[in-house]
Order: sequence, then structure tokens, then C-alpha cells
Amino acid sequence: MGRPDRSQQAAFRKDFLFAIEKLFEGSTNLTGWVKSPSFKEYLMSYRVIQWATGSMGKTCLRAVIDHPDLELVGLLVYGKSKTGRDAGNIARCDTTGVIATRDIDAILALDADVVLHCPRIQPPYAHHNKEICQLLASGKNVISINGHTYPQYWGPEYMEEISEVCAKGGTTLFGTGLNPGFITEKIATAASGLCTRIDRIHVSEIVDCTSIPNPNYIFDVLGFGASLHEADLNESSWPPAELMTGMYSEVVAQLVDSLGLTLDHIESDHEVLPATKDLETAAGRIKKGTVSVTHWRWHGIVGGKRFFTLSIRWMMENAPPAKKDYNLWDVKILGIPEVEISVNLVTPKYTGYKTMAEQYAVAGSVINSIPAVCAAPAGILRIPVFAAYRPRFRSKFPPATAPTPSVRSCETS
Ligand SMILES: NC(=O)c1ccc[n+]([C@@H]2O[C@H](COP(=O)([O-])OP(=O)(O)OC[C@H]3O[C@@H](n4cnc5c(N)ncnc54)[C@H](OP(=O)(O)O)[C@@H]3O)[C@@H](O)[C@H]2O)c1
Repeated sequence: MGRPDRSQQAAFRKDFLFAIEKLFEGSTNLTGWVKSPSFKEYLMSYRVIQWATGSMGKTCLRAVIDHPDLELVGLLVYGKSKTGRDAGNIARCDTTGVIATRDIDAILALDADVVLHCPRIQPPYAHHNKEICQLLASGKNVISINGHTYPQYWGPEYMEEISEVCAKGGTTLFGTGLNPGFITEKIATAASGLCTRIDRIHVSEIVDCTSIPNPNYIFDVLGFGASLHEADLNESSWPPAELMTGMYSEVVAQLVDSLGLTLDHIESDHEVLPATKDLETAAGRIKKGTVSVTHWRWHGIVGGKRFFTLSIRWMMENAPPAKKDYNLWDVKILGIPEVEISVNLVTPKYTGYKTMAEQYAVAGSVINSIPAVCAAPAGILRIPVFAAYRPRFRSKFPPATAPTPSVRSCETS
């Protein structure tokens, strides 16, 4: 007899728990302990639904399948060719007994602790809100890799809708990942706690996008290959600009709020650079003269000055700074003392998979947050901050709010 697969192991744990409960039923004072959440938690694993299996989702899926305390109970895919396949087959690992479906209602009907929500982000930024709210209302916590790190930014009306579905389902929404999710929310915020004074914070990201294969993501979401007339990153009516500004405004606002400051507003001076020649990239050709570099810069204005700048440079061409002569992220804090941190992710060798460092890192940030998300009270979970810099200890300065929260909807119907 071979080793039981993961669904057999989960079934065994359930049967074992049932047998233990029956054994002690009504007979001893161990009954309360046996029925307690901590005993169940000890025996049971977290039941997880994986939503989407792109490069990020597939890495999360494999991490779920491989994790001894996680039980995969459902898998949603978009691609017709993936429907009906075993999750293990899609993730290129052992069979799981969980079959991929495109049926959202079937996913909503499942009993699960958490959904790892990893679809491709689409403009407008609120595109996925409806399904996220349906999942939350159906009693499943949601971890998103597409923003939702600080929905408080959009104001009380927006928050009310999310809070309502969380209260209905007794669930939590948590946004995580790398950027958004890590470099500003965890690293820059933690580093601020080293300072007795801060004048300015700068976080920059530089990514070579030439190997990203998905044309929809590269051309429609990130805006590469657009004509320079069309591509106004500072104009929020252009779909990629609306999407990116929606997602990264939350990052800027969260940092300012974590330091107990009041955000006046967010301003930008984004720019694009044209391709100097036709470029052959993994997603397709970028014609000479069309967008080959997007340089996003959002500035959080505090007390009338640029206090925090988030700079993101995504490149299809060796625009300055020259290739490899840069870090993935740099955090610079001007203050007392000055702090400089550089972060790079390195793809491990010999894993047997083509998975890149960024994909493992997104999966790590998602998987490792599952216990905290499942234990959190209903509502939004913010990345916890310990002893960040605060110019004043007295709380609470007025929260940051966006100018136009009404454009975003989270209806569950
Ligand atoms: N927070 C962070 O730091 C961070 C870092 C990197 C990426 N991300 C986000 O992660 C997301 C997924 O990236 P990826 O690299 O996995 O993408 P990818 O490899 O291009 O895969 C595309 C994914 O989108 C799904 N998809 C197909 N049609 C769709 C539709 N109409 N609507 C929504 N999703 C659809 C695909 O479904 P199938 O399962 O059927 O293939 C697949 O899972 C991106 O939106 C990106 O913004 C976040």
C-alpha cells in the first residue's frame, strides 16, 4: 500500500477527530478540551482554496499542497484547458484529488478557511471586488496579492461595504505580496523605527519586465507598447494609470498612517520612455517609439511637503540605470539617523522548477500569513506594525481619505 495522498490524510484527520470526540463524549472533563478550537487546530489543517494558477497562483498552489498544515479543498481557474484537471497536475506535483473548476458558485459553496486570491489584476482597480466580497460573505477569509493592503484609504463608504460582508461571513480580508505588501508596509515601516526624526522616505523598485510572458498583463495592465499620446500615466482615465494609482495609493497612505501622520494628498510625476528600436520580449514585440519604460512616482504630501515617495520603474529596455546595475528595491530614509536598505531576491537553484525568486516570495508572503488571517477578527487585517517612528505619540490624527471613494463598488449581488 502506497503513502496516502493529501486528501486521504485530511479524511483520516477528520475521522480521527470525530472518533476522539465520541470517545470522550459526556464521560470526563476532557470533553471540553477535545472540543476546544486549539485541539482542533492541533489536529486539523487550514482548508485552503486556491484562486487562479498563473505564475504566482501556481507557486502558492504548490506551497499549499506541500505544506503539512494546509489542506487544499478547492481550485478556481480561468483557462478552459485547466478545467477538470487535478490541482497536483497543474502544479506539477502529486495528485491531490482536488479538481480545477471555472464555476464560481461551486467555489462559493465549499467549506474553507481561506481563499488565496491570485488572478491577474485588471483595470479598473475595483474589478475583483465583487467576487472578493462574495467570498468574504460566504464565510471564507481572503488573502489577495492584488492590493487591498489599506482599503481604509478610500473612505468610510467603501469600508462600510467591505466591513458588512466581513461581518456577515465572520471573515477577514488581507492584502499582501511584495509591492504592495512587503517593501513599504514591512521593511520601510520597520526601518522608520530606528529614527528619532524623519524628514523624508523614499522607496524605489526597478524591474526588468522582458521575461514576463503574458501579453494581457504587459500591454493592457502595465501599459507597455502603447503610443506616447495614449500613455499618460498621470491621467487616471487611462486604464493602466487608474489601476496602478488605485493600488499604490493604498501603499503610500498606509505608510503615512502607520507613522501617525496626516496625508494631505497624493501627487504624481510619472513618466514614460519610448523604445529606441523594435524590442522582442517574452510577451511580444514592442515597436520603436512606443512605451518601453514606465516610471511611476507617487508622492505622499504631508504638511504641504513631499514626505514619502514610492518610485517604480518597470523596464523593457536597458534605459538608465543600466541593466543589473541596480537593486530590486532601495529604501532610503532621510532623518536622524539616515537609513539605507537594499533588497534583492535570488532565484534558488536545483528546485526542479522554473519558478523565480519573486514567485516564491509572493507565495511565502501569502502562505505564512494564513494563521494570522484565520485568527483575526472579522474585517480588514492590516500588516502589523511594531514601534514605527511616530513624531507624536498621541493618537489619533485624522485618517487619510481619498477624494473620490464613490467610484468603487463592492456589491455582492
Ligand atoms: N503583490 C505583489 O507583490 C505582486 C507581485 C507579483 C504579481 N502580483 C499580481 O499577481 C497577479 C497574477 O500574476 P501572475 O504572474 O500569476 O500572472 P500570470 O502568470 O500572467 O497568470 C495569469 C493569471 O490570470 C488568470 N486569468 C486568466 N484570465 C483572467 C481573467 N479574465 N481575469 C482574471 N484573471 C485571469 C489566469 O488563470 P488560470 O489559473 O486559468 O491560468 C492566471 O492565473 C498579477 O495581477 C499581479 O499584479 C502581485
